[in-house]
Order: sequence, then structure tokens, then C-alpha cells
Amino acid sequence: MKATVTAHRDFTIATIDDRLYGAFLEHLGRAIYSGVYEPDHPTADANGMRRDVIALVRELKVPIVRYPGGNFVSAYNWEDGVGPREQRPVRLDLAWHASESNAVGIHEFADWCEAAGTEMMLAVNLGSRGLDEARNFVEYVNGPTGSYWGDLRKANGRAEPLGVTHWCLGNEMDGPWQVGHKTAHEYGRLANEVAKTLRAFDGSLKLVVCGSSNSDMATYPEWERVVLDHCYEAVDHISLHMYFANRAKNTAEYLALSEKLDAYIGTVASTIEFVRAAKRSRRRVTISFDEWNVWYHSNAEDREILAGAKGWPHAPRLLEDVYNFEDALMVGCILNTFIRRSDVVRIACIAQLVNVIAPIMTEPKGPAWRQTTFYPYYFASAFGRGDALRLSVKSPGYDSQVADNAPYLDIAGVLDAKEETLTFFAVNRHASDPIDLEATLLGFGEASIGDHQVLAGAPLAAANTLTSPLTVTPKKGSGATIADGRLTAKLPACSYQMIRLALS
Ligand code: AHR
Repeated sequence: MKATVTAHRDFTIATIDDRLYGAFLEHLGRAIYSGVYEPDHPTADANGMRRDVIALVRELKVPIVRYPGGNFVSAYNWEDGVGPREQRPVRLDLAWHASESNAVGIHEFADWCEAAGTEMMLAVNLGSRGLDEARNFVEYVNGPTGSYWGDLRKANGRAEPLGVTHWCLGNEMDGPWQVGHKTAHEYGRLANEVAKTLRAFDGSLKLVVCGSSNSDMATYPEWERVVLDHCYEAVDHISLHMYFANRAKNTAEYLALSEKLDAYIGTVASTIEFVRAAKRSRRRVTISFDEWNVWYHSNAEDREILAGAKGWPHAPRLLEDVYNFEDALMVGCILNTFIRRSDVVRIACIAQLVNVIAPIMTEPKGPAWRQTTFYPYYFASAFGRGDALRLSVKSPGYDSQVADNAPYLDIAGVLDAKEETLTFFAVNRHASDPIDLEATLLGFGEASIGDHQVLAGAPLAAANTLTSPLTVTPKKGSGATIADGRLTAKLPACSYQMIRLALS
């Protein structure tokens, strides 16, 4: 099968926001406890944080991490996580039917972010709580000393404000499962009042209002229209979430799901434009896609704990999806979609980062390792910074339940003018046929193959595990050539590739 691509240096979509490669850490299962925090682990630092995990997070160059939830945040009292550890209360986590020790709170997470070289994006609880607790939290985190909350933060060990810019106004408030679930009107009005209040404290905050939990919600996309109608002038981003699954064991249908993601983004972008036009506003609200990933492998085994059959365990194994090679292809397609939509998707967070539906897994007292999905996320984050290119792609396609003519070649291109590189991220969705890729490069000058990395050839079910952590790893690609301004490469059936060209 042949596919052609034309790339022109001047045909760009947008400068990709670094925050597109963000992640999410929730107080859920072993994400925090024995994921990032394990004081008796051999690699623990002075704060009890696992240095092996920090090294992997640094490798991923994660720019921003959303915290502390998720569904967890909708019944969370942030005050429980500050002050002397021995005085912090154990609480019941109603979202995940677990016990929360509060050994990690905002101070410990701030220390971890510094060690991991990332920024925090915090969520306030608009489920069981409201405006007052939200503004107190923001003042505690960012307020000056000489005021009540700033002085309390200082007494707890941090005189300097933490300077957290990004704040999520609740989590998935459209979801009936959410503690404090609201209608679009109830939530939109509350979000507007909270945003107004937080802005009275600091007008420069970046505020994220909840959009839909997924595009199958009955309230979507009216939810976005109503919520934005209430708070358009007060917020910066609208949050979207989406998880992907191959329940039917149909690879072609599974890999086409990123077309559904694309349609979701397109619809919400149009809704934003509709509200903007209706309000005669100059403001540009954009999308924070702050939860996305594959999530389904662990559903069955999680049921017992979530139904309460195990009582209230602390940091149980929950949502520990073991990802396979096929999932890595799916994650590649998702990231390509975000790159191609980077004009409107300015923030995106893989959900989650450690142990819980995560690219990084850990064993208590044992090692940390990279899941299959680590690699496409790593390649996009490390090499997908710069200008997203508007590629012209001609590829054979197939009809799926979510899209007609989904192209077998899923590709995104990024020009990094500073590093003088042009990088293609490509997935061949075809189960048996390789793709002969021919890309015409216009306006880039001389180009040569700088790096070529491939995930291919493994059984679709192959996974990286504690006992076999290197089953699926990228290999150096071969056979890509450039001649007369044309890149050619053979993309094996069911493969992921990162082809990085050096420009001169
Ligand atoms: O990431 C797991 C959960 O998925 C989050 O807590 C919630 O926001 C979403 O439903």
C-alpha cells in the first residue's frame, strides 16, 4: 500500500503549546502511595519520593501535572494534607472506596514537582465544597505572608508562595458518578462565581472549567454551550476527557477511535466559537484535554474494591491496566490527533502518570518500568515541540463504526525551527500490509535522516511487566531515505514510527 504526504515549511497549524504533553496524578490506588511516594523504598529521597520514578518522569519531560484528582477531588479537603503529618486525619475516599492517609498533600506534591522538573495544575473541590474553600486553597498556595493563609503556609514550611498558575474548577461535574454532580446551569453559574472570585485575588490565573466527561454523555455538547454561556469571559480553557478501549477485540475499530476524538475536539471547538460569537467576545477559550488514555484492561478486577467488598483499603491496586503493543499504537494515534488539533487543544494530560492507567509502573520495594505506552508519549513529548504542520495526506482508508474512510496512515509532523528538525510521528493502522510512505518536503532546504525509531513486529498483546519489562521497546529504524526533497520509508503493518530529519 502506498501513501503520500506533502509538507511545506510555511503550512503550519499552530505553535504547539508545551503543555500538550502534560500528565495527571490522582490520589487513587497506588499512583501516589508506592507510586511516587514510598519512604522505605531503596531509591527514596529525603522527602520519601522514589527517585527511580522521578528519573522516568524527567525522561518524559512532563511539563505540567494535574493534581489531586479526578473524582477524588470532589470530596477532598485540601486542609487535611497540610501541617504535621502525625496530625493529619485519615479520611474515607468516596470516589475510589479507599482510605486516604493524607501523608502526601500540597507541600509534598510541590516538592515532588520541583524534583521532577514539572509544574502543578491544581483542582479545587466543587463537588462536596464550594467557593469559600476554593479561594482559601488558592490563597494558601499562592497568597503573600502577612495574611492568614500565607502565614499558615509559612508555618507549615513554605514562606514563598508556590505560584501555581493553573487551576481546574472541579472535575467532571457533568458525571452522575461525581460527588456533588450538577446540571450545566448549576455548575456554569458556580464556576463563573468561583472564577470571578479567584480572579479578584489574581487576574493572571489560568482557569479551566469542566466540559464533558466524554462525547457519549447525554448532556454533550449542550453542556459545553450552557457552561460557557455562564462563564466564557472568566475562564481560559474548557476541560475534556476521553478514554479508549478495545472491548470488542477489533484492532481496526480500536485504532479508528482517534477519529472520534478528532470529531469531539472539532465539535467543542465549534461550540466555543458559537458562544464567542453570541457574546461578541474577543476572548479565545481553548481546550484543556486533561484526561486521556486507554483504560479498560483492569475494569473487571477493580469491581470488587469499588463496590466496597474489600472495605476501605489504603492504596490498593486499582486501575492498573497492563498495556500491550496495540495500546501503544492507540496512544500514538491520540497524540497525533492532539498535534493536528494543537491550534485549539493547548493543554493535554495523559491520565495518569504512575501505576494508575499509566505509562510508568512500580513495584513496592521493587523496580519501576516503562509500559508499552511510555514510548509514543516519550517520543511526542521529547521531539514534538515546535510548529505543527498542516500535512496533505493521501492514504487508503477503511470504514469503521466511528468514521468513514479512516486513513491507514495516521501521521503528524512537527517543525522545530530552533533545533532545525522536522519530525514525523506515524502509525500504520493496517493489520497486515506495510505502507510505502513517500513524503515530499517543500521549503525545508537540505534534510537528512537524524533519527528513526520504530515500534513494530511484536504481537499486539505483548506487554512490559515486572518480570519482563523490555518485551516491547523501540528499535532503530532502517531503510528511510531522502533524495530530491523526498522522504521514503516503509512502515510495517501495525507499527509506530518516529522519523526525525535534521535540516540545514
Ligand atoms: O482517571 C481516572 C478517573 O477517570 C478520574 O478520577 C475521573 O476524572 C475520570 O472519570
